[in-house]
This record gives sequence, C-alpha cells and structure tokens, in this order.
Amino acid sequence: MTTPSILFVCLGNICRSPLADGALRHAVRQRDLGWTVDSAGTGGWHSGDAPDPRAIAVARQHGVDIAMLRARQVRAEDFTRFDLILAMDHDNLAGLRAMAPSHPRAELRLALDLVEGRAGQAVADPYYGDASGFEATWADASAIADGVLRHFDAAR
Ligand code: 4NP
Repeated sequence: MTTPSILFVCLGNICRSPLADGALRHAVRQRDLGWTVDSAGTGGWHSGDAPDPRAIAVARQHGVDIAMLRARQVRAEDFTRFDLILAMDHDNLAGLRAMAPSHPRAELRLALDLVEGRAGQAVADPYYGDASGFEATWADASAIADGVLRHFDAAR
C-alpha cells in the first residue's frame, strides 16, 4: 500500500482544519511516516490567508507550528488525490458530497467518526467565540490525529 493521504476540510480553512492538519502533520513527522496531510475550505473567502491568530497561538502552546499554512478552497482534483477526506462538520460533509464525482477515490467522512465515542459529531466552529473555544478545537484536532493514526494502524 502507498502511504496514506489525508485532507481535512472545514468552512474557512483558517480555524478547525488547519488545527487538525497541524496535529496530524506533527504526529506524522515525529513518526517519520511520510504521509501527505493537507487542509482546505469549502468556502474560498480566506484563500491565501494564514490560519486565524488564535489557532496559531493554541497550536504553538501545544508545540505545533501552523503559521506557514495557507488557506485554499477544495478543488475537484482533491477527490482523486486523497485517500481520505475528513469533514469537520455536517455542512462541510454535505458540501463535499455535492462537489464529489460519482466514484471518488477519496473516502468522505466526518473527522470525529475516527474518534471512539464521537462518531456523528461535529467539531464546533470556534471562529465567533473566544480563546477557550480554540482550546476545545485543539483537543478535538489532536484526538482526530490519534484516530487517523489508528485508522491506518500507525498509532505509537
Ligand atoms: P473554520 O472557521 O471553518 O474552522 O476555518 C471559520 C472561519 C471563517 C469563517 C467561518 C468559519 N467566516 O465566516 O469567515
């Protein structure tokens, strides 16, 4: 099997999906796995932007640098380039399904489906809240990264 490729998708690609991207990238680098990890937004308003400063700050507090990530919108080739596309909430998943070709290579799922006891749940959008919301998003992002490692049998 070739190395897995995973795309995280939220709405703006500046809060939730960059945190999940950063948490998994960090774990992949620590384990020298060489996986492809990326993130994108169903919306394009923030294309080219760095992550939200509150997302950069919470990741940094947990030893992960996401300042170099840049937002982009989901594109058609993502459905053939990635093995697994993980949506942060139900609206993002519906948006992805609406865009997807009829037989995508990528498996489309909610990100929290890979976390024990969290199947069917959404990662709450912290954008309109305060910093405490970003701490909760980081907790979800790191649980998702662990879940992805387990999904591909690469935990520890
Ligand atoms: P994200 O959060 O989808 O987790 O990146 C949001 C970022 C920006 C907006 C909404 C949600 N916005 O409306 O600009």
